[in-house]
Amino acid sequence: MLDLVTIRARPDLRGAIHAEAFNRLWPAFMLHDPVAALYFETPHFDRYLDTAFAVIDPAEPGRAVGRAFAVPFVSGEFGRDELPDSGWDGVIRWAHEDQALGRRANALSALEITLLPECRGRGASRVVLDAMRRHAGALGHRQLFAPVRPTAKHLEPFTPMAEYVARRTAEGLPADPWMRVHVRAGGEIVKVAPTSMLIAGTLAEWREWVSLPLEASGAVAIPGALSPLWVSVEQDSAVYVEPNVWFRHSVL
Ligand SMILES: CC(C)(COP(=O)(O)OP(=O)(O)OC[C@H]1O[C@@H](n2cnc3c(N)ncnc32)[C@H](O)[C@@H]1OP(=O)(O)O)[C@@H](O)C(=O)NCCC(=O)NCCS
Repeated sequence: MLDLVTIRARPDLRGAIHAEAFNRLWPAFMLHDPVAALYFETPHFDRYLDTAFAVIDPAEPGRAVGRAFAVPFVSGEFGRDELPDSGWDGVIRWAHEDQALGRRANALSALEITLLPECRGRGASRVVLDAMRRHAGALGHRQLFAPVRPTAKHLEPFTPMAEYVARRTAEGLPADPWMRVHVRAGGEIVKVAPTSMLIAGTLAEWREWVSLPLEASGAVAIPGALSPLWVSVEQDSAVYVEPNVWFRHSVL
């Protein structure tokens, strides 16, 4: 059974969870969301060691076979009656503001769960999700939220996220496999976060990130993206606006 350990408890695994072996599992353009620096870069990351995790196999505890990140934030106060439409970016910004103002967090938001390919497809993601819910409870939070990135949405980037989210299997579960894991774990869908990640760049940058010529203006499907990339040849820029889906989980 896989286990989740914090980087506070296992600082020796800090390098491993940031290693290229994990970064290259994501489409290259996803590594260019500027808001990510407020969580992942030094010195900010030093504040999140209790909610940044390595997934380990107890038979081989020196190696990270997965990684998971979460961020503590204040929910329900300071005008935050609803989760942010700006999802992943928005909750990282809220947490950053909370840290700067010395506010005491009352909720946790997951940011990512990634398993190495050899550990996928055998139900390990549920183990990791439940372990994260346990950590949230142990830290005194009452809820775990997650701006979920549905894992099969990239196959149909032009489908509106609201329509995709509503699709169900014959058993009434979400058609998307990763959303299904969240629902089976008791998670409730709160809403779509239409502007969860904003990634902008010049056409030269985007051509490097996606290895496509991008020679015409308009909405373009790019590999790994959940929605189209908006290209402007006239303005020499392109912007990607990723929708995610807010889930709410009870803690364990
Ligand atoms: C998302 C992720 C953590 C899921 O982990 P996992 O352990 O492979 O998932 P599970 O084995 O629990 O499978 C979950 C569901 O996906 C299905 N599934 C697994 N691999 C699949 C694949 N390649 N294609 C389609 N469905 C797949 C499983 O059948 C299961 O569905 P079920 O409800 O019908 O049983 C893992 O795929 C991953 O690390 N992906 C890359 C990073 C990522 O996208 N993370 C999520 C956003 S933060």
